[in-house]
Amino acid sequence: ETLARTDALLRKMNVDEKLGQLNQLFEFRRSSKLDGMVRAGKLGSLLFVTDPAEINRLQHLAVEGSRFGIPLLFGSDVVHGYRTIFPVPIALAASWDPAMVERASAIAATEARAGGIGWTFAPMVDVARDPRWGRIVEGAGEDAYLNAAMATAQVRGIQGPRLGTPDRLLATVKHFAGYGASEGGRDHDAANLSDAQLQNVYLPPFRAAVRAGAGSIMSAYMDLNDVPATGNSWLLRDVLRGQWGFKGFVVSDNNAVNDLEPHGYASNKHDAAVRAFKAGVNMEMASYSNAFATLREALDKHAINVAEVDAAVRPILATKFQLGLFEHPYVDAAKASEAAKNTPAYQAEARIAAERSAVLLRNEGKLLPLDRSAYKRIALIGPLADSRQDTLGPWVFAHDLSDTVTVAQGLRTKLGAGVTVDVAPGVQIRRTTPSPFESIFKEKTPRVWDTGRAGEEFEKALALAGNADLVILVLGEKQDMIGESASRSTLALPGDQQRLMERVVALGKPVVLLLMNGRPLDISWADAHVPAILELWYPGAQGGAAAANLLFGDASPGGKLPFTWPRNVGQVPLYYGHNLTQDPSEQDRRYWNEPGSPLFPFGYGLSYSTFAVSDLRLSTSSIRAGESIEATAVVENTGSVVADQVVQLYIHQRYGSASRPVRELKGFERVSLRPAEKKTVHFTLGPEELQYWSAATRGWVNEASTFDVWIGTDSKATLTTTFTQQ
Ligand code: IFM
Repeated sequence: ETLARTDALLRKMNVDEKLGQLNQLFEFRRSSKLDGMVRAGKLGSLLFVTDPAEINRLQHLAVEGSRFGIPLLFGSDVVHGYRTIFPVPIALAASWDPAMVERASAIAATEARAGGIGWTFAPMVDVARDPRWGRIVEGAGEDAYLNAAMATAQVRGIQGPRLGTPDRLLATVKHFAGYGASEGGRDHDAANLSDAQLQNVYLPPFRAAVRAGAGSIMSAYMDLNDVPATGNSWLLRDVLRGQWGFKGFVVSDNNAVNDLEPHGYASNKHDAAVRAFKAGVNMEMASYSNAFATLREALDKHAINVAEVDAAVRPILATKFQLGLFEHPYVDAAKASEAAKNTPAYQAEARIAAERSAVLLRNEGKLLPLDRSAYKRIALIGPLADSRQDTLGPWVFAHDLSDTVTVAQGLRTKLGAGVTVDVAPGVQIRRTTPSPFESIFKEKTPRVWDTGRAGEEFEKALALAGNADLVILVLGEKQDMIGESASRSTLALPGDQQRLMERVVALGKPVVLLLMNGRPLDISWADAHVPAILELWYPGAQGGAAAANLLFGDASPGGKLPFTWPRNVGQVPLYYGHNLTQDPSEQDRRYWNEPGSPLFPFGYGLSYSTFAVSDLRLSTSSIRAGESIEATAVVENTGSVVADQVVQLYIHQRYGSASRPVRELKGFERVSLRPAEKKTVHFTLGPEELQYWSAATRGWVNEASTFDVWIGTDSKATLTTTFTQQ
């Protein structure tokens, strides 16, 4: 039915109207010309219009003022919440809880849709193995399998069981493909990836999102093996449509079509438009230079033809039909204001998400959870202890900042009048170059920091710490130090935070370090000197309430690292799924100056309880290629508190037509257990899990080999067995 409606509409449209649907402009391009463009049907979509009244005004122009009343599709980056802000995506991935992530995405979608947004540019599923890259915060980390699971959960949450589910959005899986592998972790730099790396590591999360029904995909900015992704027809046509059967539409990243010229790929803007169009970009996102505006000329000169234009427009129109925009183009003002409320139910979801995302990295002498009766004066020290914007993290537009609970607020609310919580930043941290997104942040970093006052602040914090019977440090990176255009050449704690921490620890008080960040930081010193370290990430609007619950044991940390945590930046890239060397025994001696091993392995995270994993069994010891094998293990809570554990399954193929990674995650399950409770976890290893793309045969293979299987609580799991595949 959708196809019939789409084709019927397409038959009536003239080429300018068809080409119009291929344009998406940024809200700030709004000019006197915009209304005219909408009326003439020369615009398919706008992004970043978030005021429901303005959405309705523009939509009325499109629906009532244009010839065929084709509604505009309003897009926005709804990345980890809209009105209710959840933890950032890397944090959600650390929950290893796809069902919770799906719920969070569904809430975000519902709120955004009520506000008039129909389309989000999420999820980002780029595998990231270099933490210098700022956008590591927006994905699910270094692993293809975990990224694929989170991609699937987010697409389902955003779109619902099918595209067009009421009160949900159109999802965009981005950035196709290889963006996470930009050289040196420098945002937008070239990615040079072998075919095997692309097929086995970088593409699977996209394929999973497409399988989950993602209706749109965003082409990336950078060169992939010398061909810019936005002009790459192998990616956009052969792989995406040919091999994966994608039926939705491709939107470019912002100005990425135009940028084919500065890339040294297209000869000019016109050439850029034609080549991106021919490569398979359906819609151009543009904030300054609308290259697709030159497609009319290309049509007149027969560089492109009407059939190609029809093929490009068809999925865009079909998506608008599927989303129900023709039936319900306008924002319902009552629904929008209802959705704008900070409801207790959604606050609770955001708090639970933050609690489930937290990762306990260290807990010497079981300092955590804190004994509530033991501390009467707490010093809460650090630049992130009471900053709302930083508690939220990047990519937040529609949230009311006053609803954010910082760690300071969370602690004061939990502890009440009986405990004094003294708060001091101690140091200020800020980027040495401004963020390009600075104008949209509601909370400003102080621009002027005179050293005299800085010294006073530092001493004040130390004095408070000296008077306290417990010190909680909240350190990390401000939210503008990570995200797009926020790569860093170091993983050190920015500013004077390291010195602050060392001086505080020297006071000899019990110290807990809370981290707010989206990339691993160099915390080797802290790991040796601070008894308790809890990774909070950017925990979202209820982050402070979650932190208070975690600190005092009303919630128990069960998250696990979605990336390998290096000791220092010199080890980067460092990831668990590397290939073996000719002498695996020297794996940990790759540098003469320090261990080659990470500070914390992938999948790592402690608990307030203890667990035992035992009884690893396989359903058989030998299978034929194409068959499946079941693996089970028993996990038991051997401690004294209710807690969660993420049971993880890894495999290794010992030999074959190509070398395989030393370990690969192929299954996980987060379980919650009472003390002494046991559970048997089940995993299936089928042809999907056991296949790989072989550089030797240049295709997917399922080979005869011996496979190692490990089941445990991180990527260093030791419980192991083997099976063979014939
Ligand atoms: O969706 C984003 C993308 O991830 C990076 N460039 C800008 C787009 C729109 O905000």
